[in-house]
Amino acid sequence: MTQGESRSPGRRTVLGAAVLGTAALGAGSTAAQANERNSGHGSSYKDLPHPTVIGHRGASGYRPEHTLGSYQLALDLGAHVVEQDLVPTKDGHLVCRHENDITGTTDVAAHPEFASRRTTKSIDGVTLTGWFTEDFTLAELKTLRAKERIPANRQENTLYDGRWAIPTFEEVLRWAEKEGHRRGRPVWLHVETKHPTYFRGLGLGLEERLAGLLRRYGRDRRNSPVFLQSFEPSSMQRMAELVSSPRVVLLSAAGTRPWDFVEAGDPRTVADLVKPEGLKWIASYAQGIGPTLDLIIPKDASGRLTTPTTLVRDAHAKGLILHPYTIRNENTFLPADFRRGTDPNAYGDAFGAFKVYFETGIDGIFTDNPDTGLLAAADFRS
Ligand code: G3P
Ligand code: CA
Repeated sequence: MTQGESRSPGRRTVLGAAVLGTAALGAGSTAAQANERNSGHGSSYKDLPHPTVIGHRGASGYRPEHTLGSYQLALDLGAHVVEQDLVPTKDGHLVCRHENDITGTTDVAAHPEFASRRTTKSIDGVTLTGWFTEDFTLAELKTLRAKERIPANRQENTLYDGRWAIPTFEEVLRWAEKEGHRRGRPVWLHVETKHPTYFRGLGLGLEERLAGLLRRYGRDRRNSPVFLQSFEPSSMQRMAELVSSPRVVLLSAAGTRPWDFVEAGDPRTVADLVKPEGLKWIASYAQGIGPTLDLIIPKDASGRLTTPTTLVRDAHAKGLILHPYTIRNENTFLPADFRRGTDPNAYGDAFGAFKVYFETGIDGIFTDNPDTGLLAAADFRS
């Protein structure tokens, strides 16, 4: 079995139908039915390779994040799942950006026609000055070009600055469908709603728009090749009412509160949510959690790993899978145990880091370097 290949014997049959394309469909088939077949409906997340390697923002260790170039490379490297973060435009289109502030990941500052759009906002309690997707129509955003977010760490990635536009989620769905046909297996996506309460307050609710696209492209079922994810539990609860696609609740540092909890006056923190009662509550509307790695293995004051928590065991006991985030190859992002040499941007012992996290029993992991993760996962399985 090669990396990325399903363990499910039944899946080939579904995919066999998928690669026939729309020509094989009956005259009465709708576009949604065709898309459903082509996107691999019938393949459960439980059939994904274990541990599952998720290309974080594509292959963002090697290309500017959330570009079609980054997604394509992640898939070509063999990532089992490719991640998108979603924010809306002024005219209601969902586009792929890690946040609505596009100052650091596009060339917007070099566009004099948009100089007056620079503004200061409070988003989820944080004051930010810059340019924001919700102040641009899709046509305007499409005049911008993506660039590397962290050029000081990843100078090589700046080679690709200006090469790609901001993709819409619909473009990604079409790309995934095309690649699915070509490869004879579905392309799995892991789709995050960003700042959902904030955007709902602007009349730009994310969930209904996302659900509409998932339905249109046949990814709205329990066995569709897509995970939905959010740091705001209410966003996943809302998605559960709209579609059946698997859902993952993201968990930040233990002392933090999801922003929807803050807005609703819910006093619970992430520390409450990782207790058995909190996990039971999550399991009532989601299939997994996406904790920060520090919730799996905390670090000491020097940044070295300490003893794993009971979170993996506790979450599994409630039937939840775990997709923690994020491993990156560079020293500066690794636990101190795995840094090598003194250059913060040089690669450390990322294989060592993957190994200790895999040994905790997690089901998958987000990584900027899917090729490293895949080799580490193969080592772990052998
Ligand atoms: O969604 C998983 C991981 O991507 C969460 O962190 O901030 O990179 O979206 P972030
Ligand atoms: Ca994300």
